[in-house]
Amino acid sequence: MADSQTSRIPRHVAIIMDGNGRWAKKRLLPRSAGHNAGMNRMIGLSERAKQLGIHYLTVYALSTENLARPKDELDGLYSLIKKYFLKNVDKLIKGGAALRVIGDLSLLPEDVRTVIEDGVARSPEEAEFTFVIALAYGSRREIVGACGAAAAKGLAITEETLSANLYTGGIPDPDLIIRTGGELRLSNFLLWQAAYAELYFSDVLFPDFSDECLDDAVAEFSRRTRRFGKV
Ligand code: FPP
Repeated sequence: MADSQTSRIPRHVAIIMDGNGRWAKKRLLPRSAGHNAGMNRMIGLSERAKQLGIHYLTVYALSTENLARPKDELDGLYSLIKKYFLKNVDKLIKGGAALRVIGDLSLLPEDVRTVIEDGVARSPEEAEFTFVIALAYGSRREIVGACGAAAAKGLAITEETLSANLYTGGIPDPDLIIRTGGELRLSNFLLWQAAYAELYFSDVLFPDFSDECLDDAVAEFSRRTRRFGKV
């Protein structure tokens, strides 16, 4: 496996997929059309990430804060999951990849949760490429939960025990975090794991974030000097 500290290709890339709503608005389409286009792009990018030799791609598909969106928008996102999730998971697995889901699935409607759990159950535990989808995900909630889980096991809270008890336990920290859609913030995404991530912000709205846009982000990453706090 490539070592992300010596190789030019990041081992783990995470993406905040922002801008679906504005993409749809520009085309006088409902927001659901933006999410639909976003889902297709998300799948396309997973293929590209795999080709580039990235080992983990994490996508922020639904935050705990997004759960407060109007019911019709959430229903649209849930119906996308119910319609396409398993089909795409099967394709991913057939291509030799693994799937992980991070987030608090108990916050989702039961039928949506069942589909997601079915998908995860079909996946191998490990593969050369792992697609990680953050659903009903909030980083502060994750950190509080990890502290509780470590304490319940009688473990002292250390960087190691906390990391191991996050939803992302066993997954290396992201090397590169990309946010599309022009906003410059992390929005409660991988706050602990982002400690030494390189950040890359793009004005491109997520449905327009092409394979070439991902290539550009990776090229920019490869030009950065990572010091991890050292001189
Ligand atoms: C942010 O754009 C995007 C989301 C809240 C959802 C991201 C979802 C996908 C890419 C589709 C695949 C995921 C699932 C759950 C099936 P926004 O709507 O906040 O865009 P805006 O800032 O332009 O309004």
